Amino acid sequence: MAEVIFLPRNKIIKVKAGTSLLDTSIRARVVIPARCGGKAACLMCKVKVDDPTTLLPLTQSEKTKLSQEQISENIRLACQAKVFNKKVIVSIPESPLNKVVQAQLKNENNNDL
Ligand code: FES
Repeated sequence: MAEVIFLPRNKIIKVKAGTSLLDTSIRARVVIPARCGGKAACLMCKVKVDDPTTLLPLTQSEKTKLSQEQISENIRLACQAKVFNKKVIVSIPESPLNKVVQAQLKNENNNDL
């Protein structure tokens, strides 16, 4: 079993080794954007891991679809990356849409003051 921690919500769940991060997130009720059904096509499920050795090695799809810079920054595709057997810490990037909405709400709140 591995313990997976999803940041920034700090949601913790235990899963069997070999479970994908996307499946783990679904079980943990943590949202990771994904539109291709886990086929490594949409590239929306990018996450960052603290320690890449806590996951099984990059899949061939990840090697071809992620840039060298992304790989060196420990970015993985959640639908492809599988949990190994340690403590896995995963950061889910804030979606660009959320950022726009939050900025708009902040502006509206400032205008109300
Ligand atoms: S879910 Fe589409 S690339 Fe991972």
